[in-house]
Amino acid sequence: MQITVLNGSPKGEISVTLQYVRYLQKAFPEHQFKIFHIAQSIRQLEKEPSLFEEVIAAVAAADGVLWAFPLYIFLVHADYKRFIELIRERGAAAAFRHKYAAALSTSIHFYDHTAHNYIQAVCDDLEMKYTGYFAAEMDDLLKEELRKQFHCFAAGFFHDIAVQAPTARRYQPLPPAMPAYLPGPSQAGPRVALRGHRVVIVADAAGSDTNLGKMLAKFESCFSEPVERLQLDTLKINGGCLGCIRCGYDNVCVYGDSDDVRQAYQKLEAADIVVYAGTIVDRYFSSRWKLFIDRRFEKTHQPLFTGKQFAYIISGPLSQLPNLTEILHSTAEYDRANLAGVVTDEAGSGAEIDALLADLAERLVRLADQQYVPPATFRGVAATVIFRDAIWGRLRFVFQGDHRYFKRHGFYDFPQQQWGQRFFNGFMTVLFRIPPVRRVIQRETKQQMIAHFQKVLKP
Ligand SMILES: Cc1cc2nc3c(=O)[nH]c(=O)nc-3n(C[C@H](O)[C@H](O)[C@H](O)COP(=O)(O)O)c2cc1C
Repeated sequence: MQITVLNGSPKGEISVTLQYVRYLQKAFPEHQFKIFHIAQSIRQLEKEPSLFEEVIAAVAAADGVLWAFPLYIFLVHADYKRFIELIRERGAAAAFRHKYAAALSTSIHFYDHTAHNYIQAVCDDLEMKYTGYFAAEMDDLLKEELRKQFHCFAAGFFHDIAVQAPTARRYQPLPPAMPAYLPGPSQAGPRVALRGHRVVIVADAAGSDTNLGKMLAKFESCFSEPVERLQLDTLKINGGCLGCIRCGYDNVCVYGDSDDVRQAYQKLEAADIVVYAGTIVDRYFSSRWKLFIDRRFEKTHQPLFTGKQFAYIISGPLSQLPNLTEILHSTAEYDRANLAGVVTDEAGSGAEIDALLADLAERLVRLADQQYVPPATFRGVAATVIFRDAIWGRLRFVFQGDHRYFKRHGFYDFPQQQWGQRFFNGFMTVLFRIPPVRRVIQRETKQQMIAHFQKVLKP
């Protein structure tokens, strides 16, 4: 069988993910694997049509396609996403149609499911026959049991191709375009005073005739003072994250001040209110957006927007993209910010969108006044615990910047250090073994679960 492997790591040959592909080559010598370092060579693929066509020809000739990629900030690397965009831009989708596909990722299991959802949706959009994914932790290949499972996964993929197994589409096609947004006349009511709060908007390409451009103009007009806007299309970005992890030691990226990204993030850190504005491209924002998002990794695993108000203004069918919605909410919780609102151009008539934008402006400033940040849900709690354990443990020496930050900000809140609770548990565990005492405790459990609230409830 001929398998075309699309490697999504910017590290190309020396990528962790690629070692898993090498293992498949060793384990299944009867199959041929044609590997393309997509993310690493994206600039050449963009510039030289013949190289891009070589990849597409290999896809067309393959029995199956393996999307092999590392996790990059809830998704795939920006340059891998750029390739996915190029497939459409260059009219190459036909090569993928009805091809069997599987996905392989390596990561530390932080939102690997959202990346896989994205790739599966991309496969569905390309009308591929998606068979499944294997989401490995970086070092799983070193574990015998997981090697066995990985072998099983790959054998299943080859089996599905051999028997031409039926596959089901999970994601329905998206509408081709959004209806034009027609804003009403300029802000009639009172404008929102910033009351000393700094607002910074980061916006993807937003020409004044686009829905996004018009929504942004309307939103900005809601404030009584000018707000700052950073345009990603003109921001100098010298390149995507290289995956070199130099930033791990002291949170200094190899790009340094050679481009505008660090300065842009510094502005966001100094703001009280941050608004991200973008147009949906396939099932995420543009790869340009993702380039900017990936470069946040200069601060590695540290929350960027603690205590800030956050919002999104989006052009595109967000209501049909629950995976992207999940990423937006999860990012805000991971960053310890309050996601105060999301306004899209699918919300209704021009007047309705205008009202939502005006409400968003008012809400952002009001909540900034109140410094409102709600408790994290599973998303934020899981992020804290995963990174706490990873940085305290295996990743500490590489990510010393995180270790210092986590120590300084009390992130190492391991339950083992809660001595009072441990003593209480030990004591009660012994008492619990005595049947009459156990009966009393069990009878009183429901009452005891609310007893301690009395200290805040009593008049
Ligand atoms: C910029 C950057 C972002 C990352 N984002 C995530 C992430 O969101 N979730 C996760 O589990 N791992 C994340 N990782 C870890 C990588 O996915 C992991 O190390 C992977 O095995 C690297 O594979 P590669 O060597 O093939 O590039 C990130 C790493 C980098 C450098």
